[in-house]
Amino acid sequence: MFLRDIWYFAMPGEALKSGGLANKVLLGEPLVFGRTRQGEPFALRDICPHRGVPLSAGHLYDAGSSGCGEAAIECPYHGWKFNTSGVCTEIPSLVPGQDIDVSRIRVRRYPVREVNGNIWVYMTDEKRADLAPTHEPPAIPGFDGKSANIRESMTFSCHVDHAVIGLMDPAHGPFVHRSWYWRTKASIHEKAKNFAPSEMGFAMVEHTPSSNSFAYRILGGKPTTEISFRLPGIRLERIHAGRHRVVGLTAVTPIDETSTEITQSFYWTLPLLSVAKPVLRRFMRAFLGQDRDMVNLQQQGLRFEPRLMLINDSDVQAKWYHRLKNEWDEATAQGRPFQNPVKPVTLRWRS
Ligand code: FES
Ligand SMILES: [Fe+2]
Repeated sequence: MFLRDIWYFAMPGEALKSGGLANKVLLGEPLVFGRTRQGEPFALRDICPHRGVPLSAGHLYDAGSSGCGEAAIECPYHGWKFNTSGVCTEIPSLVPGQDIDVSRIRVRRYPVREVNGNIWVYMTDEKRADLAPTHEPPAIPGFDGKSANIRESMTFSCHVDHAVIGLMDPAHGPFVHRSWYWRTKASIHEKAKNFAPSEMGFAMVEHTPSSNSFAYRILGGKPTTEISFRLPGIRLERIHAGRHRVVGLTAVTPIDETSTEITQSFYWTLPLLSVAKPVLRRFMRAFLGQDRDMVNLQQQGLRFEPRLMLINDSDVQAKWYHRLKNEWDEATAQGRPFQNPVKPVTLRWRS
């Protein structure tokens, strides 16, 4: 179904206010995210163990106000309180002498990290819920402590695999993203790119991008770019031009079996790009919208469960994605280190 024991992008940090709660279904599981007044994010299963009310409908009380000296969510139904580790700290209806050990009542807690303004959540298999993360979520190289300059998010009506494969598919550009300023049918030409294994995935090694892409042209200077993919569905594109750098992060997160959220964020050092934000936002929405419309259209065919094809070389990255996933599943099930199945190779295609 979904990869487990791995970090998924949950939401932008700015979506979670200090002292606030936010609910979100991820991988078919309801989660409540909160942020303490100290700024620490946390995540719990969004179901009260008493009678099943979503905890996200309650309140986050913080040190002092909750009376228990630590941040806790209060369920709106009977006021049970759960701390940020998911341990029950109070049942208001108890009278003296009714000595239930409330600390034995627990809500599932999910490990959370906030890196470069991105909130990541570690989704383990229920059976391994108490295991500590084996790795860290991705950071944005060269942007220590900085948040994204721009973000757009969109929901695709498809399983995560089709969203990820659509994202790494090099052959759809001139068809799905055809436009006078980006790609035209006449701009199709042969490409050869070098690929190598990289952390939890693979990378198109640093190169000078082809001249038919508008985004690279507006950067000025001779840019180089490196694109990497890592499980479960994270694409990092780093562009260097002179002393400037732009990093694009695309995170694909399954909401459930049939819907997937794509969040695209850009980090940059060019003040000029900040001025152009409204225009960039329109381009980003247009782009994501074209991809969304295509995978949504694809669902019409997939309803009939056809056999699908993966061809050389333009679908090799999709093949790697399946292999990487299988290896991740096997490695986590066997409790052994992940062994990257990708080998260095040059791939050629026309796009
Ligand atoms: S349902 Fe949450 S306290 Fe009763
Ligand atoms: Fe696309």
